[in-house]
Amino acid sequence: MGIFITFEGPEGSGKSTQVRLLVSWLRTRGVNVLATREPGGTEIGDRIRSLLLSPTTRALTVEAEVLLFSASRAQLVQEVIRPHLEQGGVVVCDRYADSTLAYQGYGRGVDLEVLQTITRFATRGLVPDITFLLDIPVAEGLARKRGNQAEWNRMEQEVVAYHERVRAGYLALAAADPHRWHVLDAREDVATLHARIRHIVAEKLGWSGDEVDPGHSP
Ligand code: TMP
Repeated sequence: MGIFITFEGPEGSGKSTQVRLLVSWLRTRGVNVLATREPGGTEIGDRIRSLLLSPTTRALTVEAEVLLFSASRAQLVQEVIRPHLEQGGVVVCDRYADSTLAYQGYGRGVDLEVLQTITRFATRGLVPDITFLLDIPVAEGLARKRGNQAEWNRMEQEVVAYHERVRAGYLALAAADPHRWHVLDAREDVATLHARIRHIVAEKLGWSGDEVDPGHSP
């Protein structure tokens, strides 16, 4: 089995940039790496993604929302992630099941045990080896996101209090499993964050200090 790495964090935490940097660094080192994202990452998943994130999707029940995110995840795990891991490759995923626990569980108040059961079913029990939490105060994350695009998507229009619950949820999940989670301050500059991430991944891959090449910039 290969190594499964996920990135989590609130809106505007810079996950996608760090995913991109990590993936290209691993590729230059000859690692068979696959990058993907949730919701989406498969043809069916991308259709579910546009349904979930479209501002025109109204009156979606929270139960339907959970099941749609989970359906997208089931498709991604079975079609893309698991086959790549079985070949011994590294998978880097921008969001995974912890997003459901944080957003639908802590954020919207869905029972966490129910979500764990649905997630186990959807993923057939596939849990990441490493999860990075790019933590950022809610106001800063939202401001960054707002600067990037004229219109917020449906999720981002939710009230700030909801995002506060999501953030606190992420921190609780990370505290409960410090072996898997690595909490990083997303306010640090891009290169510093990337170096931290590289260091943790290199350790997991069993690479020595020399191979990590700390002087290398992204
Ligand atoms: P992103 O493309 O910026 O990561 O946005 C995806 C949005 O979907 C973000 O607001 C978080 C939300 N989301 C959930 O609410 N639950 C989930 O399980 C996943 C994967 C994402």
